[in-house]
Amino acid sequence: MKSGIGLKTADIRLVPVTRTNRPLVTALELAPDQMDFVASNAESLEEAETDEDARPRVVMAGTRVVGFLMYEAPRDDDEARIYRFMIDRASQGRGYGKAALREVLDEIQGLGHVRHVSICYEPDNEAARNLYRSAGFVEEGLDEDGEMIAILALQAQADEP
Ligand SMILES: CC(C)(COP(=O)(O)OP(=O)(O)OC[C@H]1O[C@@H](n2cnc3c(N)ncnc32)[C@H](O)[C@@H]1OP(=O)(O)O)[C@@H](O)C(=O)NCCC(=O)NCCS
Repeated sequence: MKSGIGLKTADIRLVPVTRTNRPLVTALELAPDQMDFVASNAESLEEAETDEDARPRVVMAGTRVVGFLMYEAPRDDDEARIYRFMIDRASQGRGYGKAALREVLDEIQGLGHVRHVSICYEPDNEAARNLYRSAGFVEEGLDEDGEMIAILALQAQADEP
């Protein structure tokens, strides 16, 4: 179905996982050569059930479920970590990933206690590298598992007048 084509990226928003949208999230697909870049959404949702820090979010384009991401931002830490991020293969390349990243960064900033956001990706994942770099993430180097870590320093919130 092509009804989503032409949606403005302003129509991208994040919503919590519900009993209704969950099957749509687990049905989202990646291209075969992208499957190694991120855990399956079914695995991530299962993981989220036993991890109270996990904040899973569904990426909506209008009324369509087009992607999924997950992050954590523990209250006692000034660093948040985005550790799952995917847009369904049929909806990639339309600016939805960029808009969803903007939304999650806004959400994280709104929590109030986070100063840095980290993200990690396979070093050969060009799409992820470009997406995160364009949002201001700076590569720090490889972790012990050979994944690239990139960090974004959030702008300090303006003080209340
Ligand atoms: C990475 C991903 C989320 C990007 O989502 P998307 O909706 O296709 O991305 P957008 O259309 O918003 O593009 C945003 C930017 O990403 C980069 N990008 C997206 N697809 C790209 C590709 N195939 N090759 C190179 N750069 C690409 C570009 O810089 C683009 O900005 P531009 O269009 O201004 O040049 C998506 O490709 C995906 O789900 N990949 C598989 C899972 C994955 O790798 N997740 C990240 C693991 S942490």
